[in-house]
Amino acid sequence: MASVKEQIKGFLESRRATSERILADFLAIPSVSADPHHRADVVRAAKWVAEFLSQMGLHTEVAQPAPGHPVVYAETPYRAGLPTVLVYGHYDVQPAENPALWESPPFEPTIRGGAIYARGASDDKGQVLTHLLSVQAWYEVTKSWPINFKFVIEGEEEVGSLVLEKFLDENGDRLSCDCVVISDGNQFGPDQPAITYGLRGIAYFELRVKGPSRDLHSGSFGGTVTNPATALTMILGRIMGPDGRIAIPGFYDDVVPLSDEERRRLRELPFDERAFWATLGVEAALGEPGYTVLERRWARPTFEVCGLWGGYQGEGAKTVIPSQAGAKISFRLVPRQDPTRIRQALLAYLAKICPVGVEYELVDLHASPAVLTSLDSPYIKAAENAIKAAFPRPPVFTREGGSIPIVSLFQQRLGADILLLGWGQDDDNTHAPNEKFSLADFHRGTLASAYLWEFIRQIAVPEKNSDRHSG
Ligand code: BES
Ligand code: MN
Ligand code: MN
Repeated sequence: MASVKEQIKGFLESRRATSERILADFLAIPSVSADPHHRADVVRAAKWVAEFLSQMGLHTEVAQPAPGHPVVYAETPYRAGLPTVLVYGHYDVQPAENPALWESPPFEPTIRGGAIYARGASDDKGQVLTHLLSVQAWYEVTKSWPINFKFVIEGEEEVGSLVLEKFLDENGDRLSCDCVVISDGNQFGPDQPAITYGLRGIAYFELRVKGPSRDLHSGSFGGTVTNPATALTMILGRIMGPDGRIAIPGFYDDVVPLSDEERRRLRELPFDERAFWATLGVEAALGEPGYTVLERRWARPTFEVCGLWGGYQGEGAKTVIPSQAGAKISFRLVPRQDPTRIRQALLAYLAKICPVGVEYELVDLHASPAVLTSLDSPYIKAAENAIKAAFPRPPVFTREGGSIPIVSLFQQRLGADILLLGWGQDDDNTHAPNEKFSLADFHRGTLASAYLWEFIRQIAVPEKNSDRHSG
């Protein structure tokens, strides 16, 4: 008789077409969390997830402890002596701007060249679904669950996870677990899976600069007032030097330097900087001196202008001094940098460098610290074994440049191990037109997830952990 693992593999293989249909169904819901017009769609996606979880026998709730989008929570009946895994993911998606740039409409999932195209395909609906399908497969094949599961699938990851923070405040004890499993990132490359042990944090602001009380003729008034758009460029030009170093005093104070050992490991990853730039349509780039591209991308803090406006944007020329200008700016942070301290350091620096004749306002948009996880954990070992069994190559160990705001809170509050197992690819076009997810990665991710539960089942859980569960 086939082993349980083989039976589950066979089950998943026999259901590939069904799984793809389920994915397409999920992707067709335009659950754009940032856009109030899509409120009802966001709720619809929450209900879709809740329905799926309760159909596979889990106790499921749709919670909304504060204004915002619902959190879907589900759990299996607790069985002592088995590890408890909390699966986290998000069902909300980024806006699909600009629809004209999509080859097929963003919410009409379309399969082309072995990938499914739709907003949310890779970030994060497709990746969330790998875990839902793997647990469902275990339930269908064994009529039970291999370990204890908790699911937290939220609808605000792309807008800062405020409702989930409240949910965590109110349900901290219920969420206790041995390990948090998250698939919301990328592999190292095609056919090269990765286990990710670090995420950058973020401090994101809108900077508004105000000058004269109204727009002015730039001939009549040029030279007599400070132009807010010009002032803004002066300010932005002083935040980062031409060498990519951030000039804000104190900005690097808490940055933990990369160890020689980690730098050595990162250099061993098969990475060709020129080939990487070529895929992005550039030949070279500014960057912090003394660091490789992978180090700059994963383990060093950065400053980015994400949006910029002010003055005339239409056809041809208009000679005008705008009364206001603004920018969306973000800092990616590394372990030990505190977003609140970064904000204070920025405010102090702005006070020093702002040209005379304009005023500014700094609006807070996102703040979350970076995450670093331990590689020395039985859960990492389990993930390594599961990935080895489902993908053509064993995983490499990577960090990510992106941020998942709730993860550092999970780490602090739950004290659990964190497993970041991204099934996506760097060219999935997340947050951009023509987002896609490879169907091969979708199925392999699902299989790896199913195997992961089996490997985790073999981990002995300390008594104290089991005691924290109420049963
Ligand atoms: N899934 C991404 C984070 C990510 C990106 C992980 C790339 C690994 C590789 C997540 O959905 C995301 O976009 N996060 C935002 C957070 C922000 C809105 C606070 C980010 O990183 O910009
Ligand atoms: Mn995501
Ligand atoms: Mn995202």
